[in-house]
Amino acid sequence: MAEYNKIKVVELLNQILEAELAGVVRYTHYSFLVFGYNRIPIVSWLREQATESLTHAQAAGEMITTLGDYPSLGIGRLLDSHQHDVGTILRESLENEARALNLYKELLLEVEGKSVMLEEYARQMVLTEETHAGEVNKMLRKPGEIEAVNQAQVAKTVAI
Ligand SMILES: [Fe+2]
Repeated sequence: MAEYNKIKVVELLNQILEAELAGVVRYTHYSFLVFGYNRIPIVSWLREQATESLTHAQAAGEMITTLGDYPSLGIGRLLDSHQHDVGTILRESLENEARALNLYKELLLEVEGKSVMLEEYARQMVLTEETHAGEVNKMLRKPGEIEAVNQAQVAKTVAI
């Protein structure tokens, strides 16, 4: 089996760790700012996402120490658009999830055919994150709309 570039892999895992930790903070923050009739299910969904991001961050950190390296104590980009309608929250979350997904895909490309453990991990995470993005995409559609919301529509409406 060919060797993977360990420095590059640890760098990607640290970026993943930081992005997932930012997700924990972001989802928790959003969960405080939902008001109106649908508050209860949306708050609990956002808290579930925060917990899932923490699980993903922990998996990335464990993978770094498995490789004998040092996990970052940093956190990914956190911006507050101060727009807290549920649509904006979901679009922002989709944007951020897309960044994390790209990191997992980059990791997969780096380790494919070179490490069964890392390849399986990256593949599993791509599946999990893409499924999650698909779910958020469905939440952004209007009832009766089948067509997926595309990335351009999401980016256009998110103030970054
Ligand atoms: Fe994640």
